[in-house]
Amino acid sequence: MLRNDPVLVNDWHPVATPDQFDEQPILSVRLLGEDLVLWKMDGQYHAWRDLCVHRGAKLSLGKIVDDCLRCPYHGWTYNQEGACVHMPAHPSQTPPVKARVKRYQLQERYGLLWVCLGEPANDIPPFPEDAQPEFVTAVCEPARHVQAHGPRLVENFLDAAHFPYVHAGVLGDPEHPEIGDFQVRIGPDGVESDPIEVYQPDPFGGTAGLVHYTYHAYRPLTAHFSKSVGEGSFGLMLAITPHDELDSTGWFIIAAAQTDEITDSAALKTIYSPRILRIFEEDRVVVESQRPELLPLDLQAELHLRSDRVAIAYRTWLRQLGLSFGVA
Ligand code: FES
Ligand SMILES: [Fe+2]
Repeated sequence: MLRNDPVLVNDWHPVATPDQFDEQPILSVRLLGEDLVLWKMDGQYHAWRDLCVHRGAKLSLGKIVDDCLRCPYHGWTYNQEGACVHMPAHPSQTPPVKARVKRYQLQERYGLLWVCLGEPANDIPPFPEDAQPEFVTAVCEPARHVQAHGPRLVENFLDAAHFPYVHAGVLGDPEHPEIGDFQVRIGPDGVESDPIEVYQPDPFGGTAGLVHYTYHAYRPLTAHFSKSVGEGSFGLMLAITPHDELDSTGWFIIAAAQTDEITDSAALKTIYSPRILRIFEEDRVVVESQRPELLPLDLQAELHLRSDRVAIAYRTWLRQLGLSFGVA
């Protein structure tokens, strides 16, 4: 069942990487409770409801035959426009016009395939570093499957105060837990923070010391930070696939300036991906433990400090948007 949340139904969500089609031409993905079949033909990607209109079999169990997708059950064959063009039991009969699958919009961006189940209310969120020619980007793989709601995951991503405890020795130090003062704004592009100063023992690409995180929540389930370390900076985007209640996939896309070492996306992935995914495994333990699982939007429901300003703004904004999925 398609979840009844217009904010997310009319938003873009990552569902796969193009590389996944190198191994299998047909994929199945669940998005907001809807089963999708993704398939690729002549360099074109298709995202359809994973349901044959004849007797409801899953098209993702079918085969690509003559540039069409063939149902595994009675062989009804759908062309790339989603129209049934052949019913093998009645080969001379023209399939009825109603014999069509439901198709969804799909776009490729930042190394991911994004699907919208409704009418897109926005473009795919920006990735500031991606627009800068000196930066290269890479999707950290494999993506992480998590038993948590998207808003809890995004709020964790927007939180600098947990570094000394969850990521001690790398992103934080229990001897330096204080967070500098900062402001946060809610605008047409979501939530944006000032640069937030934190102490990091191992900021990666720099020596121990103060670094600055500037957070953005561009969409309810897509967030980003730019981190400045000395003269350099990098960007990280978190985009969530909301499969179902408490069932999410987290995709991290990293952006860093080109160097002698970081020559291209593949090199960037090799260098950064293991570290980012290792850090995320530390977050997973805590986020999967959080109760209630739904992110409370009533600010009276949990306690908040000055250092929680990004989270407060994020919850306030989700409430303004009228989000209902993954929140209480
Ligand atoms: S269910 Fe697909 S052809 Fe019958
Ligand atoms: Fe973390």
